[in-house]
Amino acid sequence: MSDLPGASETVNLNIQEEAHALSVTIGTYNEKGIDISKLLGTTGHVTLDPGFKNTGSTKSAITFIDGINGILQHRGYPIEQLAELASFQEVMYLLLQGELPNANQLADIEGQIKAETKAPEGIKTLLNALPDGSHPMGMLSVALASLPSFYPNALDSWSDETVRWETIYRLLGHMPVIAAYVYRRSQNLPYIDPNPELDYVSNFLYMMFGEVDPVIADALDTLLILHADHEQNCSAATVRMIGSSHVNLYAAIAGGNSALWGPLHGGANQKVVEMLESILADGGDSEKYINKAKDKADPFRLMGFGHRVYKNFDPRAKVIKAYADKILDKLNVDDPVLDIAKRLESSALNDEYFQKRKLFPNVDFYSGIIYRALGIPVDMFTVMFALGRLPGWVSQWKEMRESGDPIGRPRQIYTGASKRDYKPITDR
Ligand code: CMC
Repeated sequence: MSDLPGASETVNLNIQEEAHALSVTIGTYNEKGIDISKLLGTTGHVTLDPGFKNTGSTKSAITFIDGINGILQHRGYPIEQLAELASFQEVMYLLLQGELPNANQLADIEGQIKAETKAPEGIKTLLNALPDGSHPMGMLSVALASLPSFYPNALDSWSDETVRWETIYRLLGHMPVIAAYVYRRSQNLPYIDPNPELDYVSNFLYMMFGEVDPVIADALDTLLILHADHEQNCSAATVRMIGSSHVNLYAAIAGGNSALWGPLHGGANQKVVEMLESILADGGDSEKYINKAKDKADPFRLMGFGHRVYKNFDPRAKVIKAYADKILDKLNVDDPVLDIAKRLESSALNDEYFQKRKLFPNVDFYSGIIYRALGIPVDMFTVMFALGRLPGWVSQWKEMRESGDPIGRPRQIYTGASKRDYKPITDR
């Protein structure tokens, strides 16, 4: 571990026999990032890294991941401890403010968010205008993108400290209401308005189902913590990228939500359960699907497997797997897809294809099974992920604005046609 996060050393890059000294930024755990921000000006070269597989886009003090050793920490606190001991709102405070709250600070953030639990009636009108059968994630993006229309003071969310926090607390307060409205709309059920007496997670369950089972509330609180942040993933990087244009917070979050929807990211939780169901319907032969996943001519992928950063195990998946057994037991649910999931996992972990590529179950492999046991329909799973991830997105946006990061604007290597002259259509 380095004593001085951000301390520098230099490396030399030789281009056509000329040495260019590049400074190296060193992180808390000795991670090293070569600073190439001046490379174009000094050497005429850019770097090329599709998918940012090897590119650090920012310095960040929120979340640390060590993908080799399966470590995930928020502001230094291990995810395993937070999942077991903290509440989701404590984790919200931790992500946003950098420290765990004391009792007064926790009561303050809970109160600020509770004061923002009443979402505009117009959100219902908007959702009602969407066709039956709309995907809940699309509905959620629409509702999030509409917030600046209802709250024009948020258009300049960064200008003033008071407006900034009002904008943040309002979003955190509105999100469970909007997510529950999305669920009610998708099921064609009447909306249930919030109950200000209830805590964050219980209120969400009340607006979803009209009742609150404390076992379910407790399980959901833990799942939300496990999703709360994950450093520069596709949706958080999207929030930072959109926010770097200095657009309002709500527009940036709506964009991040759309990024989350994709099946390679948060949308995987829906795809995992759909995959497990189709394996079950096909006779439960997990080996057949392991072979399909290995077959390069077959587009099938084992959903919920693999991760860009984790190369040994995903610590969130470890917690969730143990939790899945406990919760299904507690709720007295016997779900045959859980057995299929365990069989698939065990076959994959013993298979050379998956071992060689370091493919392990990720957070989405077991989370859907728990959501299902909690009575949440499969197309709502990614909305649940978004509810959990919101404090992470907001914290990433806030850090980006505080650090004054420049507008995100990657370079490219152009490979198209070179200059040619326009010809009239008759000559083409
Ligand atoms: N099933 C079969 N093969 C796989 C899988 C999989 N799920 N994931 C990766 N591979 C293979 C891939 O074909 C490639 O093989 P080869 O080297 O022979 O070409 C190798 O493993 C490396 O894969 P990659 O696609 O280059 O890796 P990536 O870092 O670009 O993608 C990933 C990471 C998560 C998108 C990918 O593993 C995947 O598509 N997994 C399934 C979707 C999923 O579960 N996503 C949720 C991610 S965790 C939740 C979150 O987003 O935070």
